[in-house]
Amino acid sequence: MPYLRANDYSLNVEGSYTLLQALFIINVVLPKFCFHEQLSIAGNCRMCLIEDVKSVKPIIACAINVSDGLEVFTETVKVKRAREAVLEFLLINHPLDCPICDQGGECDLQDLTLVYGGDKGRFYELKRVVINKFFGFSVKTFMNRCIHCTRCIRFASEVLGIGSLGVLGRGFLMEIGFYVEDYLDVGMAGNVVDLCPVGALTAKPYSFISRPWELRSVNYVDIFDVFLWPVVINMRGNSILRVMPVFSSRNEFEFISDKGRYVFDSIYRLRLQQVTFKLGFQKIYMSLSKSLVLLTYLFTASLRLLCLNKKKYYSSIFCLGGYLDVSELVSIVDSSFK
Ligand code: SF4
Ligand code: FES
Repeated sequence: MPYLRANDYSLNVEGSYTLLQALFIINVVLPKFCFHEQLSIAGNCRMCLIEDVKSVKPIIACAINVSDGLEVFTETVKVKRAREAVLEFLLINHPLDCPICDQGGECDLQDLTLVYGGDKGRFYELKRVVINKFFGFSVKTFMNRCIHCTRCIRFASEVLGIGSLGVLGRGFLMEIGFYVEDYLDVGMAGNVVDLCPVGALTAKPYSFISRPWELRSVNYVDIFDVFLWPVVINMRGNSILRVMPVFSSRNEFEFISDKGRYVFDSIYRLRLQQVTFKLGFQKIYMSLSKSLVLLTYLFTASLRLLCLNKKKYYSSIFCLGGYLDVSELVSIVDSSFK
């Protein structure tokens, strides 16, 4: 096992670990944009720069594996200046529209600029403009905000198997887009919204709806996934506003399907407006609310009849759909006996 010195700590770690992962063991969390645990390493944002005593320039911690005798520092003046310079560079073309950005309050660029950024800008030119792309039916794009971390590209090629998303142009003209006419439509496209560290890719259904500090989180499971991966439901009052994946010891991937992510929409939209009852050959049309009242009366009456016939008293009777999964069944039964 390689022996490493970091910020006056000495540690032995697996040779397969990157410096970023090794430093995490001693509770040093480095700032990052492009690195993601479940995607390949790109090493292109340069935000995780640290100082290696044997190197003239700072090195990137996410793409360099630990090796014997390495001695690194993460909080020196050189490192702080490097981080400030990287942020200044990223902010050159990033629009300052945080007050109207859906990522506001949960944006990595906003947070890291607050901690590591400079107190003034030196860019007096005009910012560039990038035309928005069509990423999918649930993804809203603001490509002016993109910082080219390439997380969305790696997710598309490594998880979705879509190779047509990539980097177009170089330098000032660099932008993210499709090489051929294409979009992300394989039922997992919503994950790029969580992956994007800035507000370049946001969720269309959640657009201009709420701010993260207004939300309450409830832990639940993705009922549309056979493995029941954990998710977190964000609520404001009693309204569900979004569903997001969470990383836990139980799941290998922090990604969920669009079905699990947007199914709550059916609670508020796409509801039945009119109900048709068939009495013999006659059809009776009724509004949904009236039909629910009628069904409640019919249901209660039939239950009373059932109890009378069987001469039994049931404290609880459940009427459940065929697609109910076990976790929901258990939670219904548990909550009714509390
Ligand atoms: S759109 Fe977002 S995820 Fe994709 S490269 Fe730009 S900043 Fe990264
Ligand atoms: S996180 Fe290391 S270069 Fe981006």
